[in-house]
Amino acid sequence: SRPLTILGIETSCDETAASVVVRHPDGRGEIVADVVLSQLDEHSAYGGVVPEIAARAHVEALDTLIEEALTRSGKGLKDMDAIAATSGPGLIGGLIVGLMTGKAIAYASGKPLYAVNHLEGHALTARLTDGVEFPYLMLLVSGGHTQLVLVKGVGDYERWGTTIDDALGEAFDKTAKLLGLPYPGGPAVEKAAKSGDSKRFAFPRPLVGEARLDFSFSGLKTAVRMAAEEIAPVSEQDIADICASFQHAVARTLKERIGRGLKRFREEFPGVAEPALVVAGGVAANTVLREILTSLCAENRFRFIAPPHRLCTDNAAMIAWAGLERMAAGFDADGLDVAPRSRWP
Ligand code: KG4
Ligand code: ZN
Repeated sequence: SRPLTILGIETSCDETAASVVVRHPDGRGEIVADVVLSQLDEHSAYGGVVPEIAARAHVEALDTLIEEALTRSGKGLKDMDAIAATSGPGLIGGLIVGLMTGKAIAYASGKPLYAVNHLEGHALTARLTDGVEFPYLMLLVSGGHTQLVLVKGVGDYERWGTTIDDALGEAFDKTAKLLGLPYPGGPAVEKAAKSGDSKRFAFPRPLVGEARLDFSFSGLKTAVRMAAEEIAPVSEQDIADICASFQHAVARTLKERIGRGLKRFREEFPGVAEPALVVAGGVAANTVLREILTSLCAENRFRFIAPPHRLCTDNAAMIAWAGLERMAAGFDADGLDVAPRSRWP
């Protein structure tokens, strides 16, 4: 039992990232270097992530970012116990860039390689930041994912709910686009909603009341479009009211859906004294949604854990940490023939 040090690489979407993380013998994690380069500017003109542009940008930035992370950590490749790289799910071009780089470094330096599932990275982040113990519930709400996951152990997950259509971040982005607000839509909708009337429009809350824990947001998006068309041309106040009503509908939906999940957790794990709900993903930055989840957790006597924003969105520290968790739990390293997977349940 000595500290384990790992280099992590993340390239599955539009963030190029590298990080060095240490796991101390007592299980505590320490981020010694963490660099992220967002490609937002490259994609914003297109109103979304363009896979080919993303892959090329990863190629251009990754080597420099890895060097930067190592320099900032004050360590060299020789000090690493392993290399971890995201191998899926995500955009295949980016995954190839990151995983091949990880393989090359692992091969050249003779270190073991851990091919990490990006979602496992998100799922285990709360153990790096807050030392949360298994089992716990995790809500992942990003541009690509909307999932409620039971985290039972390293490599041991149960998906309790997912979206049957759009991801929540996608719903924010599409709503913003429809109203002529800039990309990414989440922060723009949240800002506009501040001066809006959340009761002006009664938007639908799909699946609310159903026993299964899934989500659906495409009906909400359609309702927003119809409301906007009906009152066109929309004024600035109209936009604010639509955004506020949209956000309100989302908040009510999450409250009901997640509330059901918390109750199920209690039933399945009556022995867990201090259960926790952990959030991750860019949408977790939303203040209104955070408030709803905070009060929901208080009502249900759950701890609400929201890692710092830069660790909620895509980063390489979470990939490094997932690799460390796998190592510490005795999982085998991956062979250099491991393949990237754009889809990985
Ligand atoms: O996790 P993330 O940075 O990237 C991935 O999707 O992987 O999440 C980005 C998503 C976008 O859809 C963005 O609109 C949304 O998170 N988002 C927000 C807020 N900030 C970012 N949604 C609602 N409110 C926000 N304040
Ligand atoms: Zn992500």
